[in-house]
Amino acid sequence: MIPDAPVLNLNGYTSLPPGKIAAVVTYLEMSARPRLKTVPRRDDWILERIRSDLPRYRALFRRVGEPWLWFSRAVMPEAALAAILANPDVEALILRDSSGDIGLLELDFRDAGQCKLQFFGVVPEAVGIGAGRHLIREGIRRAFRRRGTAKSVARFVLHTCSLDHPAALPFYLKAGFKAVRRAIEVADDPRITGHLAPTAAPHIPVIQPKAIRPRRAPSARGGVHR
Ligand SMILES: CC(C)(COP(=O)(O)OP(=O)(O)OC[C@H]1O[C@@H](n2cnc3c(N)ncnc32)[C@H](O)[C@@H]1OP(=O)(O)O)[C@@H](O)C(=O)NCCC(=O)NCCS
Repeated sequence: MIPDAPVLNLNGYTSLPPGKIAAVVTYLEMSARPRLKTVPRRDDWILERIRSDLPRYRALFRRVGEPWLWFSRAVMPEAALAAILANPDVEALILRDSSGDIGLLELDFRDAGQCKLQFFGVVPEAVGIGAGRHLIREGIRRAFRRRGTAKSVARFVLHTCSLDHPAALPFYLKAGFKAVRRAIEVADDPRITGHLAPTAAPHIPVIQPKAIRPRRAPSARGGVHR
């Protein structure tokens, strides 16, 4: 065991070293294609598959994900990302309107028998206009469309975490996914490692490893307890 490594308390709080972020991850799945309802869509919404335009993909990934501390694809080496997008079993789709790219839907069929919603979201300006609903309906349709073929899918899976948009988990539940598992994810804060701008996600304060905290006089009151 690493000396002084924090031990996860399964019935209480676990302190983390400064510089770490933590999230509760919820895994969800859909084991059969639901009856797809018709959802309203704007006439100028166009869905395009992206296979090789890495700058366009990265720009959209950053706009959708940076407010929620997504960084994995932003830092992925060019060759690795190019190989994923070119893989015939990965469908990275961009939703655009007359203003430009507004949403990302990435489906991964590389594991036999399942489809994984790898990345999903809309840019901040498009939250709440129905684009998410339109995109997830399209995701569900595509995930199960290989029924009856050798590449048939039995489960459509995804995970979302407490760092994502607060509407994300209820959104997936309303779309018909069921929660099946939870995990705790701890990572280096990508704003400290330099993978994301220090100004990203200001609602989640950065706690620097060597923060110089002002000394406070001892107080008679106890600590704050949520
Ligand atoms: C999560 C996110 C996609 C939700 O999108 P949104 O813009 O809030 O949602 P929309 O306006 O498109 O539609 C929401 C409504 O569609 C409903 N809906 C979702 N799927 C549906 C479906 N398949 N059929 C019918 N209705 C559906 C929702 O329940 C919600 O209904 P309500 O009005 O009763 O609340 C959006 O907040 C987002 O992209 N956030 C940033 C990135 C992120 O956190 N992504 C998730 C990471 S896992």
